[in-house]
Amino acid sequence: IIQNAELANSFWISYFTLSASLFILAFQLKKTCKKMQSSVTVGEPPKKGSNNDRVKYGENPDVKFFFPNNGGALLLAEKVKFARISEIFRKQLPTSNAENGERVVITDISFEIFNNVVKFIYGEELTIYEENYLEILYIGKKYFLYEIIHKVIKFIYTFINADNMADHFEFIDKFDISSLNDFMKGICISSPLVVIRKLTKSIPHKRILQIILESPCLPCSEYELYQAIVDTYFRNVDKEVFDISKYIRDELGKLIFLIRFPTMTNKEIINCTKYPSLLTKEQSMDFLLWIEDKIFTDSLQYFSSVPRLKCNCQVNKPIPK
Ligand SMILES: *[C@@H]1O[C@H](CO)[C@@H](O)[C@H](O)[C@H]1NC(C)=O
Repeated sequence: IIQNAELANSFWISYFTLSASLFILAFQLKKTCKKMQSSVTVGEPPKKGSNNDRVKYGENPDVKFFFPNNGGALLLAEKVKFARISEIFRKQLPTSNAENGERVVITDISFEIFNNVVKFIYGEELTIYEENYLEILYIGKKYFLYEIIHKVIKFIYTFINADNMADHFEFIDKFDISSLNDFMKGICISSPLVVIRKLTKSIPHKRILQIILESPCLPCSEYELYQAIVDTYFRNVDKEVFDISKYIRDELGKLIFLIRFPTMTNKEIINCTKYPSLLTKEQSMDFLLWIEDKIFTDSLQYFSSVPRLKCNCQVNKPIPK
């Protein structure tokens, strides 16, 4: 019995060592793969200057894709495969044979990414990650590859959140896909303060601020909203600016009118007059008069005095298949 127990013990020990080392190996592999993936996609085209990239799909490829920007890489495939999944391919692919030297020149998509998509068309998995999702979405939109568009949308639903949305908004917004735009709006409205704190002075980021400020309901107070905006713009002020209040007011322009100052308390308005302030002296006085005695003066014409609805918004994602 003792011998058996010892045997069993050593068995378990070696079993654990083995599985642990396998686990570490798998982890390392994954890391290397990730590195390889990102090294391929960061900026410059892979294997620049080499003419060796030549990939063939299917038995009798009859279309040749040529990538002059990737060292003249070539991709040979079968028209029928493309025609089946995309109307655009059906219309655009040359009717003559690849043997005649007819080729499709591709300059707006990298060989690497196009090759991944063709692999997918030939039944392989498509791996979508941060560095390639925009280019894959571009191909999907350009060639009407709906399955691919759907895959990228699903990726975006899991990848984009309040912390990273500001960095990606501009690029996703360009594709003009309604459910993605609504998804991003949902993030803006459900986590306005987190989103605002990530903004810069760029035009697309002002669009984000506008989306937030135009929302009839927000899960934060108007004063918190104000404070987040001032903090963010204060952080982004250039060093040589003399009057920071005026500078921020000019940067925000008409967006200021979307802050509902008349719905704040007197104490909050007084806090809003602390430097740097988005309010002029006249505006602060007008708001105090309104809040204290409901006296309607000039500034009240331009600012809403209707409190926002307090919503506990959750971001809705269509459940991906
Ligand atoms: C006004 O600002 C101070 C900090 O400067 C803060 O402690 C206080 O809570 C603010 N008052 C209101 C009413 O938000």
